[in-house]
Amino acid sequence: MKRTRWSNQLAFILAAIGSAVGLGNIWKFPYIAGENGGGAFVLVYLVCIAAIGIPIFIAELFIGQHAQCNAVAAFEKLTSKGTPWRVSGWIGVLAAFLILSFYSVVGGWVLSFLTKGIANRFVGQPAEVVRGYMASIIGDAKASIFWHTVFMAIVIGIVIMGIKDGVERWNKVLMPGFFALLVALFVRAAFLPGFPLALTFLFAPDTSRLTAAGILEAVGHSFFTLSVGMGAIITYGSYLGEKQELPRIAFLIGLADTLVAMIAGVVIFSIVFSAGLKPEAGPTLMFQTLPVLFASMAGGYYIAVAFFLLVLFAAVTSAVSLLEVVVAYVDEHWNLNRTKGTLLVGGVIYTLGLLCATSNNLLSHVTVLGYNFFSLFDTVSSNYLLPIGGLLISLFYGWVLGKKAIRSTLGAHADSPFWLHSLLWCARILAPVGVFLVLLNSILPGGILALLGIASER
Ligand code: PHE
Repeated sequence: MKRTRWSNQLAFILAAIGSAVGLGNIWKFPYIAGENGGGAFVLVYLVCIAAIGIPIFIAELFIGQHAQCNAVAAFEKLTSKGTPWRVSGWIGVLAAFLILSFYSVVGGWVLSFLTKGIANRFVGQPAEVVRGYMASIIGDAKASIFWHTVFMAIVIGIVIMGIKDGVERWNKVLMPGFFALLVALFVRAAFLPGFPLALTFLFAPDTSRLTAAGILEAVGHSFFTLSVGMGAIITYGSYLGEKQELPRIAFLIGLADTLVAMIAGVVIFSIVFSAGLKPEAGPTLMFQTLPVLFASMAGGYYIAVAFFLLVLFAAVTSAVSLLEVVVAYVDEHWNLNRTKGTLLVGGVIYTLGLLCATSNNLLSHVTVLGYNFFSLFDTVSSNYLLPIGGLLISLFYGWVLGKKAIRSTLGAHADSPFWLHSLLWCARILAPVGVFLVLLNSILPGGILALLGIASER
């Protein structure tokens, strides 16, 4: 069977940026930074992106490109049939199910706000009215399920078309459009009275506000936002043909992804502090702030429509990469054709998503370990499955594939001891040990300090 290939390097880079940049940057990063006190959390997150996320991104690209198959089979193909390392692939498949099920619900909220924008429900409205829209959507089971259904249908339709026809063409126009609009919003935010406070909140670290749970969340989010730890980048890398400069690609994508998150954060917190709102609003934060800015902005109608359209696009391109992980596996493992495989997998994820769509209304009384389904799926996948998957991937790359693979990844820079040792060290020690310690720290009551007999106030 002939595998699909990206048309060229640019098409691949845009698709990988499409996977990385999504709701994680615009919706999730600002709200979890808000809940975790800002600066210190952001610092941990940035360090994790650079020291753990990007090396694992490189490892996934390498594994995918060399194996040329789905994320579960890749581990077997590069070692031997039945290798225990394929567990990392399964963790990825499980994570894809869980993440997409709640991601689609948030994608549905975006769709609903897009229709509100088109119907001109923001411009000229008082801030309280605009802020109230969110509560009415989450509280309404029918609306949440309806929009979740529409979002999943779009994603399933695109994956059936195949990654190449499905995303490539659109990416070229809409990704740059999305960046341009964000920059415009950033410039507008710079004139808001809350702008300096937003900068201080996000970039002046106050370590007293950092908790063990916050550190875990920052680590988990660095995986989530780069789409690593679950085989999405292995899968996309497997559609790469000839040799590429993988580290350069990974660095570029990490940079683009981080910039989007930082800009979105500054814009959103400028609105928060200008209006005297609380940063800890939770998952509704983006939806309760940006529309208020659009409502009072020149050209607000068009900006609101363009913004939600582009966020929708960013969300869809990420969701497509999540579904693709499982579809590629089902396709190649069970020999199901793409249409049947996508409908089957998409159907199961859609059904799981119903639990998330109703977790703030019909099922709001149902909790597991203190979480509703929406936050349970998010916490389990982002804070545990992705870091554990990433830990295994980096061990596999650093120790099993080893020095030879790292040299080959570095291509023209393979002779540079600096790059060789940096990547080797990150993949073998820093990433796995870092993730392990953070997980341990979050599980032990009182953190690692308690283990060492040092009392901690956390
Ligand atoms: N990176 C995506 C975002 O930030 C989410 C995602 C996670 C996509 C994992 C694929 C795999 O929105």
